[in-house]
Amino acid sequence: MNVIPMPNHAYFHREGGGFVLDNHSRILVGENSSSLKTAQYLASFLKKHGFDLKIENVAKVDGIENDIILRIFDDNKDIQPEGYKLKVNAGNISIVSDDGDGLFYGVQTLIQLLPDTLLSSTLPSVNIPGWIINDSPRFHYRGMHLDVGRHFFSVDFIKHYLDMMAMYKFNTFHWHLTEDQGWRIEIKKYPKLTEIGGFRDSTLVGKYSDKPQRWDGKRYGGFYTQDQIREVVKYAADRHITIIPEIEMPGHSLAALAAYPELACTPGPFRPATLWGVFPDIYCPKEKTFEFLEDVLTEVMNLFPGKYIHIGGDEAPKERWKESKLCQQIIQKNGLKNEEELQSYFVARIEKFLNEHGRQLIGWDEILEGGLSPGATVMSWRGVEGGISAAQAGHDAIMTPGNFCYFDHYQAGPEREPIAIGGMTTLKKVYGYEPVPEELNKKEAKHILGAQGNVWTEYMPTPSKVEYMVLPRMAALSEVVWTENDKKSWPDFQRRINHHFKRYKALGWNYCSGTYHIAFSEEKESDTTTWRVELETEIYEASIHYTTDGSMPSTHSEEYKKPLHLTKNTVLTAAIFKQDTLLGKAQKFIVGKK
Ligand code: ACM
Repeated sequence: MNVIPMPNHAYFHREGGGFVLDNHSRILVGENSSSLKTAQYLASFLKKHGFDLKIENVAKVDGIENDIILRIFDDNKDIQPEGYKLKVNAGNISIVSDDGDGLFYGVQTLIQLLPDTLLSSTLPSVNIPGWIINDSPRFHYRGMHLDVGRHFFSVDFIKHYLDMMAMYKFNTFHWHLTEDQGWRIEIKKYPKLTEIGGFRDSTLVGKYSDKPQRWDGKRYGGFYTQDQIREVVKYAADRHITIIPEIEMPGHSLAALAAYPELACTPGPFRPATLWGVFPDIYCPKEKTFEFLEDVLTEVMNLFPGKYIHIGGDEAPKERWKESKLCQQIIQKNGLKNEEELQSYFVARIEKFLNEHGRQLIGWDEILEGGLSPGATVMSWRGVEGGISAAQAGHDAIMTPGNFCYFDHYQAGPEREPIAIGGMTTLKKVYGYEPVPEELNKKEAKHILGAQGNVWTEYMPTPSKVEYMVLPRMAALSEVVWTENDKKSWPDFQRRINHHFKRYKALGWNYCSGTYHIAFSEEKESDTTTWRVELETEIYEASIHYTTDGSMPSTHSEEYKKPLHLTKNTVLTAAIFKQDTLLGKAQKFIVGKK
């Protein structure tokens, strides 16, 4: 069983034997249009890999023989929302669900039960082992985010991103559409947003911290037309993914101010940013700004049918508001204490507008600072505290803490990866993330809707770099949000992800094969003279060899098999080997040093 995320109940069923898929197999569906769509999805996947299966109505066939049956039964009490039951028998495969989502996820599981070799070679038939799976997700919110402001990605790539998400049963795409460095969504009423705001004059080359900083001097940009947005929304819906558009306010809005400087607190002129970071010029809370934002959001709501609209709210410096006479008047008139409360006033007005149109507001955790809007959902990114406060106050929260969910961090380490923004979030770290903070009681915990991987693209100029940064971390996150804790297993995930690496290779997807950093942990033992030391590598089927005499380890050195008991100040030199080859560099640890 190489399925990721791990299904919550799966039984190998030897007696059922295996199912043999060949060109005589058919996909049989009921009357439901969602099951027909999912059948077409499965048929098109199989066609790409050499099998041409007919789709037929299950009520109209003579008998069932070697077929795949996809059915949705409403009011199916023993199947959870988004859940499915999949049975692989010798004579047929059946997937049953209570809703269209569940059926689609059942098909994703079936696709992953097919052998890896199917993706790289044409086979006359394939054998699928007998399984009975009864599965449904732990969290309803399973998200991936993509910043298309810092770098712009084509509609084709966005579709590919949605395909990767679908494979791992994610159901929400947070599309970060506006930034200081570029406005990416066509707004008919304000054409300058994309004409002017969609393009910057130059892009930073290398790292932000490089001295001196260098630029490429090339105009860069792009945007999605409303027709393209509609096409992507439909493509996502066909994969049971809802898109949450993000229109940033009041900060990260320099590209919009470049187009319409009258929305700022100072006269400008402004240009879309050519440097990464946070900028002081933000929307000024004047009536004209609210009129503009309501017009923009009206067009956005017409394009995106989902219930949530993300309004950003993060990283909005208050210096312009402090200096602005108008802002100070608004503060006075509305009895606000400070500029943080002014931001809450701003967000509350926008929330009211969204609510009047049947939508709900999500914002980054800064929206807590001056008091939370009545129905707002908080996206907790500066750690988990925002999520905790929101849930304790009875608000919904989505967890995206930097240490676990920021896929712009390094995952193998700067010494063997292309440049990233910083941080180090290994696959194992993502895998070990628990979205519900311990601080919450049962009732509050219900407000944690799920978690999301964030992909900020300052250092991801190409589709291939984005693939590398999300694969395989999004696979680990999918198991965090789908699989119950007692069904998760890091060693088993390592085995399964190794199979997924074969799939990525066969499909030509770029990915990170893991970190060569050895995880070192130590604990003082009760006799006080020795320390219990544990070493671990993330690399599948690799071994760790070590010395304690300062020499370089080789495969002839002692192999690490179980925790070591070492005295303080022992110099432990350890290295990872796979098939006799040293991976990375040896690492030195001094016992009891910390
Ligand atoms: C963020 O990373 N500024 C939400």
